[in-house]
Amino acid sequence: MKRCRLIYRSLAKDSTLKSNAVADIYKTAQENNKKDGIVGILILSGKQFLQVLEGPVRYVNQLYHRIGNDPRHDKVELIKYELIDTPYFFDWSMKLLELDNLPAKDKEKLIKKYPYQDGHLVIPDNLIQLYSLIHDSRDLF
Ligand SMILES: Cc1cc2nc3c(=O)[nH]c(=O)nc-3n(C[C@H](O)[C@H](O)[C@H](O)COP(=O)(O)O)c2cc1C
Repeated sequence: MKRCRLIYRSLAKDSTLKSNAVADIYKTAQENNKKDGIVGILILSGKQFLQVLEGPVRYVNQLYHRIGNDPRHDKVELIKYELIDTPYFFDWSMKLLELDNLPAKDKEKLIKKYPYQDGHLVIPDNLIQLYSLIHDSRDLF
């Protein structure tokens, strides 16, 4: 079975942040992804989502299609799509990391390394920095 890693970013709608929608998304993600053998991480910083999805090509592609049509966010932008042998998040399902709610000491470490604006860490445009943030985020669990 071919496996892939898909990374995208998007912007949460205001209504999504004001309601319980992020918790709902997380619950659905954990349930569905387990069934489909998909692992990864969903990062939220201010309004910015960054998600890594790793798993069987067919299921990841189908999921990205659903996510792209989800009205709870917009400006969905594909960052990277690659075939992989070994997932980076192999030993867990989907985790949610809300960067705004990190303990102060973890947040300070990230603020030193990544762009920071208006009280939120900014998801970097630079691909190397972005991978580094994904790596640091995984280590926070
Ligand atoms: C930012 C974001 C991330 C999401 N991540 C996942 C995910 O990892 N897995 C998942 O099954 N659904 C995820 N969803 C929800 C899907 O868009 C969709 O609502 C869900 O898969 C149920 O689809 P269905 O109602 O067509 O069955 C996410 C939605 C958003 C807005």
